[in-house]
Amino acid sequence: GLISSNMAAVSLPLAALLPLLCGVLGFPLGQETGPTSCHATKPNLLNVHLVPHTHDDVGWLKTVDQYYYGDRNDIQHAGVQYILDSVVDQLLKNPDRRFIYVETAFFYRWWKRQSADVRRTVRRLVDEGRLEFVNGGWCMSDEATTHYSAVIDQMTMGLRFLNDTFGPCGRPRVAWHIDPFGHAREHASMFAQMGYDGFFFGRLDYQDRSRRRIAREQELLWRASDSLTPPMADLFTGILPNGYNPPEGFCWDQSCDDPPIRDDPDLEDYNVDDVVKRFLAIANTQAKVYKTNHIIMTMGSDFQYENANLWYKNLDKLIRYVNGRQANGSRVHALYSTPSCYLQELHRANLTWALKTDDFFPYADDAHDLWTGYFTSRPALKRYERISNGNLQTCNQLEVLGGPISRNGPFGKGDSQTMKKAMAVAQHHDAVSGTEKQHVADDYARRLAGGWLRCQVLVSNSLAALSGSTAERIYCDKLNVSVCPLTESSSKFSVNVYNPLARPVSWPVRLPVNGTSYKVSDAEGRSVDCQVCVCVCVCCPLLKTVCLCVLVLQFLRVTFDPDTGLLSGLSNLETKQTIKLTQNFYWYNASDGNNSKSDQPSGAYIFRPNSSTPFVISRTAKTETVQTSVLQEVRQWFSPWVSQVVRLHGDSRALELEWTVGPLPIDDDLGKEVITRLDSSIQTAEYFYTDSNGREILQRKKDFRPTWILRQSEPVAGNYYPINSRAFIKDEVDQLTVVTDRSQGGSSIQNGSLEIMLHRRLLYDDVRGVAEPLNETSALFPEGLVVRGRLLLSLDRPPTAADAHRPLAQQAVLQPTLDSSGRWSPCLQFSGLQAALPPAVHLLTLTQWDEDSVLLRLEHQFQSRESKENSRPVTVNLQKLFSTLEILGASELNLSANQWKDEMKRFHWTPQTGM
Ligand SMILES: *[C@@H]1O[C@H](CO)[C@@H](O)[C@H](O)[C@H]1NC(C)=O
Ligand SMILES: *[C@@H]1O[C@H](CO)[C@@H](O)[C@H](O)[C@H]1NC(C)=O
Ligand SMILES: *[C@@H]1O[C@H](CO)[C@@H](O)[C@H](O)[C@H]1NC(C)=O
Ligand SMILES: *[C@@H]1O[C@H](CO)[C@@H](O)[C@H](O)[C@H]1NC(C)=O
Ligand SMILES: *[C@@H]1O[C@H](CO)[C@@H](O)[C@H](O)[C@H]1NC(C)=O
Ligand SMILES: *[C@@H]1O[C@H](CO)[C@@H](O)[C@H](O)[C@H]1NC(C)=O
Ligand SMILES: *[C@@H]1O[C@H](CO)[C@@H](O)[C@H](O)[C@H]1NC(C)=O
Ligand SMILES: [Zn+2]
Repeated sequence: GLISSNMAAVSLPLAALLPLLCGVLGFPLGQETGPTSCHATKPNLLNVHLVPHTHDDVGWLKTVDQYYYGDRNDIQHAGVQYILDSVVDQLLKNPDRRFIYVETAFFYRWWKRQSADVRRTVRRLVDEGRLEFVNGGWCMSDEATTHYSAVIDQMTMGLRFLNDTFGPCGRPRVAWHIDPFGHAREHASMFAQMGYDGFFFGRLDYQDRSRRRIAREQELLWRASDSLTPPMADLFTGILPNGYNPPEGFCWDQSCDDPPIRDDPDLEDYNVDDVVKRFLAIANTQAKVYKTNHIIMTMGSDFQYENANLWYKNLDKLIRYVNGRQANGSRVHALYSTPSCYLQELHRANLTWALKTDDFFPYADDAHDLWTGYFTSRPALKRYERISNGNLQTCNQLEVLGGPISRNGPFGKGDSQTMKKAMAVAQHHDAVSGTEKQHVADDYARRLAGGWLRCQVLVSNSLAALSGSTAERIYCDKLNVSVCPLTESSSKFSVNVYNPLARPVSWPVRLPVNGTSYKVSDAEGRSVDCQVCVCVCVCCPLLKTVCLCVLVLQFLRVTFDPDTGLLSGLSNLETKQTIKLTQNFYWYNASDGNNSKSDQPSGAYIFRPNSSTPFVISRTAKTETVQTSVLQEVRQWFSPWVSQVVRLHGDSRALELEWTVGPLPIDDDLGKEVITRLDSSIQTAEYFYTDSNGREILQRKKDFRPTWILRQSEPVAGNYYPINSRAFIKDEVDQLTVVTDRSQGGSSIQNGSLEIMLHRRLLYDDVRGVAEPLNETSALFPEGLVVRGRLLLSLDRPPTAADAHRPLAQQAVLQPTLDSSGRWSPCLQFSGLQAALPPAVHLLTLTQWDEDSVLLRLEHQFQSRESKENSRPVTVNLQKLFSTLEILGASELNLSANQWKDEMKRFHWTPQTGM
């Protein structure tokens, strides 16, 4: 198969393709039309598409299961099972009614418990287009803090369930991210490659919205990749008029207080004329800021429709009375609709649409309300989610390579499903984003831990099958706090290292041990260079300053200022580049909301420093140097709550900064947002670069947005952008790239500088609903959470920098999995691949699909033009890929693997001329 410069998914072997029709009212597949089950519209009137919907968070104030059951209604009244029960009943009462459902994590929980009768009924509703799935991922993912690989997995999981359960009529045609707090370009690119015809969302910067309203550009064409040939990554994008709420005065849920339609003239308070008048006024006003004679209104909100009768009874009346006015000359036609029916009308309008090529970050809903804090909120959960993604990919790969015995072998029954579900739930926009209540964050972490336990059994079975040894394996899960009981208590042990990347990597393995001298040999018995060093514990005594030397190993040279102990310079010895580089730690004083400009405090969502100048934590660092033949380290202590190890490995081209931050002190009653800042001699002219969901790179400019003239009101927070795996600054000759180990927020506020927010601890809630200050503690750290992480720094020439940072970022995302065994046995070396893949090709997914087929995703990981060598198209021979699998056939799918590639026919949209 030829893999061009996009992501592609392949399922093996080929299944028979049958043309399928959707139910009675269905639409033939493969034609460029929408569902024929849409209600008729009136070409000469203003058509108002009323879309009944519910927004069901996959965990936020309550856990996902509490929301499903309607448990803990004392926290928030919400029960998804009742919503689905009630909506199905109400849809049956009137065939005109419509409903859309979004979050497959909930729908799956409900479907499992339904009788054959109910299932039949629901299938009919789906076939007839009365119940329509939109988006359809396991959850509605966050867009700022997620990595594309985990997003694709969670979408695949939800969409596959829908296809398995409902066939093509269950395939969502519209992506629907009504709540996420800003929108990533890579998400739009993925949605296009998943076959969606359009995308709707609710939140964007308030300045951007007002400009778009005036220009009638709330509906646009998003060109979401500069590598894919248009229209491959083109996505029609619509901005909803009221976020995702109904217009004011028209909320008829049991949770709302708006008056019902009182239409019996014999009773008191008859209000039909008033309701119709208000509705017509709202519709006509809304029509002025959209382009066609069709407008959409979202009739629902968070966890609404638990008693769907209230909504539907009033909507039935609204439609009847509004349309009744047409006899008297009214020009407004209201109808039950869905996003895909609305989209179909926009498509029929055959207009041209404004083109957008940047993204929708950062999101501000007012001048001092920048939603850029959550880029970093809950850094430990963000890291755990990232490692879990790596573990899941290892688990998936070993399930395929080990065969069926992996799921049921010498160590018992294991599975990858538990981890897949836990990871899918963790992508939700109140999960990895860090905007949930503490008990809900704990629930996400518990699910991931449970998933990994099931995977460990699978991995042990698989390795037993591949190596022929059934020695028990211990997984070193706590290496980030230097704990691995087995290696600490054994004088002799063996360690397996599994690399989930499709090419060899050089990765330093560090294990806590008890002795002072060890002999290490590799799989072939050859001796390996190794050093035993004293570990840096999390709460260290302050050590005395020792004289510094410069760190130099094969590829890099790092200098320190002898007076301050701070990093002062970095050289790449291969390219003969040197820059001045100082690095230090600072904290922003979080606003408490007590401020004349605005009462907005910093919180889980919002970043609002009280001043744009951060406080330095210490001007000097106490240091200690460790130099061995395999590594050199400078250990720096800045304060009792900030320390760092600057580490250089013999064969690494990147400098490692291992930071430990916490517990952030709050005895001064000030919330703190801790950053590390790199100040370099690079001439950046206000530009910097961040990745989008870990994939393509976007250019950023200080106090600037590419699509409107920005009035900057938050000089720091308004310049923050999400960093998922890397960010860089550059000039003509030097590029400094920082690779992160989790999603974080960052910016370049001064020329030559790049800052990354590492940790935050806040004392006030930021009034976006979570109703808790972000004030994390844990059993291990009752005084306040301590977090440790790594940044990798590389210095390159700009034309070749991508060749270095792409693989570096993939290595940081997919780290090797370590397990150790107390029984010493020379272990086998094994590779699932016949040969390493070319540098441009990333093995994104290898996972069991069904009994005899696997899902394989190969990705061209370079952007067009970013690398002379690696941006070119590559060819991969599937037949010669795997060492243990014989390929009998292959067929190509869309990115989310819920549609065969040759059936993928998306709406075509025309950008405005000159674009
Ligand atoms: C239509 O207009 C007539 C005459 O003004 C009025 O009597 C009637 O009530 C109106 N009908 C509606 C549905 O408003
Ligand atoms: C859409 O508009 C274009 C240009 O105005 C026109 O050439 C084309 O025929 C129209 N298509 C349809 C289906 O009306
Ligand atoms: C480390 O070694 C010492 C001396 O051999 C022993 O007493 C101690 O229990 C060991 N520690 C661990 C964690 O095994
Ligand atoms: C920190 O910010 C608070 C308001 O949020 C302010 O009252 C306090 O004076 C500031 N402290 C310092 C040291 O700047
Ligand atoms: C933050 O957490 C600490 C430790 O649990 C607690 O003592 C303090 O009261 C909390 N502060 C707020 C504002 O929640
Ligand atoms: C270490 O990793 C675990 C998850 O594996 C996480 O819960 C914990 O917070 C991390 N500890 C530090 C100090 O970062
Ligand atoms: C979707 O489901 C249909 C009906 O069950 C099946 O024929 C088709 O192959 C499935 N599509 C994919 C991509 O799995
Ligand atoms: Zn939400």
